[in-house]
Amino acid sequence: MRLRSIVLSIAISAVLAVPSSARQAAPVQLRSPDVIFVPTPQEVVDAMLRLADVSADDVVFDLGSGDGRVPITAARTYGARGVGIDIDPERIKEANENLRTAGVEDKVRFLNEDLFTSDISEATVVTLYLLPSLNLKLVSKLNAELMPGTRIVSHAFDMGEIRPEQTQNVNGRTIYLWTVPIQ
Ligand SMILES: C[S@@+](CC[C@H](N)C(=O)[O-])C[C@H]1O[C@@H](n2cnc3c(N)ncnc32)[C@H](O)[C@@H]1O
Repeated sequence: MRLRSIVLSIAISAVLAVPSSARQAAPVQLRSPDVIFVPTPQEVVDAMLRLADVSADDVVFDLGSGDGRVPITAARTYGARGVGIDIDPERIKEANENLRTAGVEDKVRFLNEDLFTSDISEATVVTLYLLPSLNLKLVSKLNAELMPGTRIVSHAFDMGEIRPEQTQNVNGRTIYLWTVPIQ
């Protein structure tokens, strides 16, 4: 009994010894990802941002941001602000490492969150490389939270019956553009 109390108090002291900011910041595995990490080739990232007509006034959200290449490119190339959301803590760690190397830490942040429950209302451009079923599941959230005029660009996957305004072929890969409200 006594031994248990001693072990417990050592464990509690160890937790309290870590500053609260560090405890909150540590990325955690919330649940299994809905789709695995496959990076968008850089030339396709560049084409997606061009198709969305990104400028320094934009806030680019990549939903399922992987290694962070989309928000980092938006910040480096266009001076836009970027937000990447990924449920996988390993991806968040990798994206933050890439962000430090890219030197645009003042413009980009990565959030270890579920894209279906994240607040995305600040976005003026949203990028996706998910799955057709996930795009469809997102439609009501995109329309409810995003400002009218927000551009949405998806790599590889459409939104079923919802016709895109533009499609483009980039080295054999298709990218799609819609503007909110999407219908
Ligand atoms: C196909 S990768 C795309 C990565 C990046 N957007 C790109 O185009 O290079 C999909 C990413 O979505 C993330 N993901 C899957 N389900 C998610 C969810 N519910 N919330 C947030 N991220 C998720 C995965 O961890 C993975 O990094």
